Amino acid sequence: MNIIILGVTGGIAAYKAVDVARQFILLGFEVKVIMTEHATRLVGPATFRAITGNPVAIDNFADTGAPIQHISLAREADLVVVAPATANVLAKMAHGLADDLLSTTLLATRSPLLVAPAMNLEMWRHPATRSNLEKLRERGVFVVGPESGSLACGEEGEGRMSEPARVVDTALEILGMGGSLAGRRVLVTAGGTREPIDPVRYIGNRSSGRMGYALAATAKRMGADVDLVSGPTSLEDPGGVETIRVETAAEMWEEVKAIAPACDVVVMAAAVADFTPARANAEKIKKEGRSGLTLELEPTRDILEHLAGSRTPGQVLVGFAAETGELMQRASRKLREKGVDMIVANDVSARGSGFDSDYNKATLLFADGRVLDLDRMPKEELAVRVWQAVLAMLEH
Ligand code: CTP
Repeated sequence: MNIIILGVTGGIAAYKAVDVARQFILLGFEVKVIMTEHATRLVGPATFRAITGNPVAIDNFADTGAPIQHISLAREADLVVVAPATANVLAKMAHGLADDLLSTTLLATRSPLLVAPAMNLEMWRHPATRSNLEKLRERGVFVVGPESGSLACGEEGEGRMSEPARVVDTALEILGMGGSLAGRRVLVTAGGTREPIDPVRYIGNRSSGRMGYALAATAKRMGADVDLVSGPTSLEDPGGVETIRVETAAEMWEEVKAIAPACDVVVMAAAVADFTPARANAEKIKKEGRSGLTLELEPTRDILEHLAGSRTPGQVLVGFAAETGELMQRASRKLREKGVDMIVANDVSARGSGFDSDYNKATLLFADGRVLDLDRMPKEELAVRVWQAVLAMLEH
């Protein structure tokens, strides 16, 4: 497993480092955080500890059991990321100062270094910072950002720390792990559909859309060109993803039909209605004079099955199976009958996973008979596992 040392220094942007740590963890990295004394005044070490599952190192003289802490940390890292990097830490790095655990580790490491500067505009522009940065770049230190925008000090200009996703993307590029889906076009569907009964009522389901959105955002982060066709959800469009909102199964089919032929991969994470009212009432159905109400439903088109019937050469198709029992039998029947390459099966009746949860416990079933039983994990992490499995099929 790759180990990342994340150095957090005392800039207001220290709160963004929490998300940097989180994103590395979701991508399967081991993260060890070193904070400066000042950084601990802005974000509590307990937050990083909880997210990374590792103790947070702050003090040079703490008794950690390791013989010489800065040397052991420096040696084991595949990459050292300093985010945010204040003007002060950049100056220390440029001049080889080592007066706390982070700066000592930075001096002792031979791993690649990535810094994400964040500071006030004037400090960023100051000739001292400029020349420190130049020195660091000459020595091969990677720099991401800063970006322009409104700064914590109230000014506008260059000095904002890059967004966590950008810091993580840059780190992946340095490690030679970036862009594994680069040049690939993928289509993801997400959320549940709504089948109208009348102008105010519909038949829907409990899908939140979170799994599909995590799949779309992750594919984007891995370099793909991503289209997302989504049923109604309360989620924001993922950054950089072409998002198309639909309501019904029929509308979803129209969009998917148009986009899918140009895609290398289609992942149907949407909970598509299997039946729709045969007629949607033009007016709101009234209760007066009725002792009951029977709705006539007719089947919708099975989108995934249609895609499998008309797939382009080399295209990978992935379906989901949300079940409430006999998971493996039902999922493997879907895999066969729908003619797809992989089914992500999950038991939606299990507590703490599935609908309305940030977690999922899934089993991946492949057309070649392989079965991969995964632990309960955050939906983002499951998304990474799904794309890794898809990548292996694409490269095959
Ligand atoms: N699916 C689809 N079009 C439909 C219904 C489902 O493309 N009209 C896709 C889903 O997006 C999912 C897979 O088929 O990837 C399985 O969906 P699921 O609802 O679990 O299975 P169904 O085939 O609908 O069977 P059942 O509801 O009887 O379990």
